Amino acid sequence: MPTFPAPAYPAIRMRRTRASAWSRALHAEHRLSPADFIWPLFITAGKQTQEPIASLPGVSRWSVDLAVARAKDAASAGIPCLALFPNTEADRRSDDGAEALNPDNLMCQAIRAIKDAVPDIGLLTDVALDPYTVHGQDGLLDEAGYVVNDATVDVLIGQSLNQAAAGADIIAPSDMMDGRIGAIREALEAEGHANVQIMAYAAKYASAFYGPFRDAVGSRGLLKGDKKNYQMDPANGAEALREVALDLAEGADSVMVKPGLPYLDIVARVKDAFDVPVFAYQVSGEYAMIEAAAAVGAGDRDALILETLTAFKRAGCTGVLTYHAMDAARLLNG
Ligand code: PBG
Repeated sequence: MPTFPAPAYPAIRMRRTRASAWSRALHAEHRLSPADFIWPLFITAGKQTQEPIASLPGVSRWSVDLAVARAKDAASAGIPCLALFPNTEADRRSDDGAEALNPDNLMCQAIRAIKDAVPDIGLLTDVALDPYTVHGQDGLLDEAGYVVNDATVDVLIGQSLNQAAAGADIIAPSDMMDGRIGAIREALEAEGHANVQIMAYAAKYASAFYGPFRDAVGSRGLLKGDKKNYQMDPANGAEALREVALDLAEGADSVMVKPGLPYLDIVARVKDAFDVPVFAYQVSGEYAMIEAAAAVGAGDRDALILETLTAFKRAGCTGVLTYHAMDAARLLNG
């Protein structure tokens, strides 16, 4: 058992260093910066098109030309990286998600256009089939509706190579199939993409916080059943460490925990156990929760944003995927 020193009050007063703003600034253990953020952007077809997402107030889908403008905003705010998600047109969705392999799909168009106009911003691209399938699942289904692992991994390899060829910097598999990190790494090496990184959605939970995202990519209404036979059970922590260990062994450059706030214990355990770059995704439902709280006056919006994002840093995150990235960067840039 740890022992504690005898009470030393008044020699020790914990409030002393908190007494003024300069002293609080001096003693801060963690500091947020716009460089901590990855900003998710939703892409839609068309030109000069902005489509607000009702369940994600303040977040829109952007046509590729406007996504380029958002990328410029992000770069000038000091945000180093964007995460791209396409809302695939309905007639391009299929049982097998083949549109994911189309070199001219929305994702690839957005990658090329942004890389062309803003070459210095990083692009993280989601690998999973849900924005491309008519059933909203992340992989291929057998007759029983089960997402089959190995055949799905084969398609994910093709999807990753397609994104890398278009110019993606970080491939981010969010599908939770077994063995996909190693398979994708091997294919990237073989095809001349040695410097394309992989950020593994290593510990991704079957969460109720993804609802607004599924609206944003148009898969909510399509999704049959749930994703519990591939995404993790929220009851499990040790299992997340096994997932992370496997993804690192297979060649992941960084790992992600998702959702964020309810899973900061997992972030801390991963950081302690592996001390590798660990990111967390403050997901759509978390964003919506903060916006809803602010809208009814339950808390100050700016303060809620900065407090929650600081909590990610304190837990051990290298960076955070957050829909509040631009708001937070504006607050931090003053
Ligand atoms: C899809 C994917 C999801 C999110 C990121 N990639 C949704 C899901 O797994 O159903 C959720 C992100 C968010 O809620 O903001 N593979």
